[in-house]
Amino acid sequence: METHSELNKVELTTQKLTKRFGELQALDEVSIEIKNCITLIIGPNGGGKTTLINTVTGFLSADEGEVFFKKREITNLSPHEIFKRGIVRTFQTPKPLLKLTVIENLLIAEANYGESIIQSLGRSWLAKEEMLVKKAFSVLDFLGLEHMWNEFAMNLSGGQLRLLEIGRALMCQTKLIIMDEPIAGIAPDLSHAILKKFRKLSEMGISFLIVEHRLDIVLEYVDHIYVMAGGRIIAEGRSKDILENPEVIEVYLGAQS
Ligand SMILES: Nc1ncnc2c1ncn2[C@@H]1O[C@H](COP(=O)(O)OP(=O)(O)OP(=O)(O)O)[C@@H](O)[C@H]1O
Ligand SMILES: [Mg+2]
Repeated sequence: METHSELNKVELTTQKLTKRFGELQALDEVSIEIKNCITLIIGPNGGGKTTLINTVTGFLSADEGEVFFKKREITNLSPHEIFKRGIVRTFQTPKPLLKLTVIENLLIAEANYGESIIQSLGRSWLAKEEMLVKKAFSVLDFLGLEHMWNEFAMNLSGGQLRLLEIGRALMCQTKLIIMDEPIAGIAPDLSHAILKKFRKLSEMGISFLIVEHRLDIVLEYVDHIYVMAGGRIIAEGRSKDILENPEVIEVYLGAQS
């Protein structure tokens, strides 16, 4: 069972992370602490949320500041290096993957991860295949996608594709999953189902950093919130404090709905 200290363990930190696009300061000394839980970043359009995610995961390089994951510096490492440390940043599912079946998507996710633990144990290829397939089916079972195992990914709904992305991350010893607007365009029922899976995974030790505008749905599932506007963190706290924060209401919540 997780202890209280494990749940509060700091996984990722940024220290005065700064990113400029020409004259524009898209990230202005952003310092955050992501603990072993579900962290949400909200804020107005153009606030810097996606830029923060991209800079943390190596898709953009930082101009100043540092990023640490599990106490080791990862600032400006390549996306692949960062992925290998256990951070997965999901994107919209690329087209080639849509032409594969659900189970194939999971199996190649693990293959992409590089040398697997099983391989390094020197087991035979067949034994490895068997274990991978078993693992893939247990991931599908957890996600409620088992009945779709032989379906082409292109036949999945938007919500099911999101679950498949999570499944691909689970095949790769992921420790932190970073998602930009994971429930955008997804029906409320399935959105709740997806967020419930996030909660279960969080209890199992996987941390989440998500950016989302659908506060009506997402708030009940998150542990901690950062609010970004103009490239800065303007507030942080638990849902209730954030909803009542006058500055947050002024720059973001007031403009919503
Ligand atoms: N590659 C880029 N080149 C130049 N400017 C960029 C680039 N990417 C983002 N920006 C600018 O940086 C600022 C922050 O953008 P970002 O996409 O991070 O905002 P966001 O908070 O994700 O917004 P949204 O809620 O609309 O997704 C915006 O002013 C945007 O126009
Ligand atoms: Mg964005």
